Amino acid sequence: MKVHIITIFPEYFQGIINTGIIKIAQSKNLLDLKILNLRDFTDDPYRQVDDYPYGGGAGMILKPEPIFKAVNSIKEENSKVILLSPQGKTFNQKMAFELSQLPHLIFICGRYKGVDGRVSEYLCDMEISIGDYILSGGEGACAVVLEAIVRLIEGVVGDYESIETDSFVSGLLDATYYTRPQDFMGYKVPEVLLSGNHELIRKWRRKSALLNTLKNRPDLLKTANLTEEDKKLLKEIEKELKEK
Ligand SMILES: C[S@@+](CC[C@H](N)C(=O)[O-])C[C@H]1O[C@@H](n2cnc3c(N)ncnc32)[C@H](O)[C@@H]1O
Repeated sequence: MKVHIITIFPEYFQGIINTGIIKIAQSKNLLDLKILNLRDFTDDPYRQVDDYPYGGGAGMILKPEPIFKAVNSIKEENSKVILLSPQGKTFNQKMAFELSQLPHLIFICGRYKGVDGRVSEYLCDMEISIGDYILSGGEGACAVVLEAIVRLIEGVVGDYESIETDSFVSGLLDATYYTRPQDFMGYKVPEVLLSGNHELIRKWRRKSALLNTLKNRPDLLKTANLTEEDKKLLKEIEKELKEK
């Protein structure tokens, strides 16, 4: 996958480019990531990228010309142009999967009071928000979206099973996991996980995922595809919680 990020703060991405999954994806030649400095696409000696809003009011607006110029210099037939914006669709795992299948993503990071409206109207294919809160710029949001997408590109993560059991993939939160030591300050790992019985462990993990979802994100249970076994396990959980 090719990814271009357009930003006035290219240095923001230096750590991200050289760390963890983004670094691995590049080293495996599964990700071709380029960061473009928006100021390189200005025509004036001051490399100005922002201006006052028409109609007045506080805050500066990112100008359309450098953004159009930057995007048009890299855009291909199959590119998807994405503006990071609190007014976009809220990002989720399903969107991450869909975007991970595409050959070329172009991200535009906003700043200041926002981006000239003609960018979302005439240049972008979609706007993505990472949640109902306001950041100072799109760079943090872009880093979040990029990491979620890149780990889903086939071949990037060695153990794909670990992705398949992640929260939201099956519509539920993930199970709880434990590692060594078995006994930490008297807090013990559930016995069943030490039993070596794969069927019991599978069932325990499913129950744990259902319990985590019921406790922290009960809204997900309304849309999850629950099997007969899930419904039975949920009844058990509800009974156990009542008895506590
Ligand atoms: C201070 S914000 C502008 C907010 C804008 N005035 C509004 O209320 O819709 C500056 C930039 O940060 C980015 N940004 C802020 N919050 C975001 C969010 N929740 N998701 C994605 N991008 C965000 C966008 O690129 C935005 O253009």
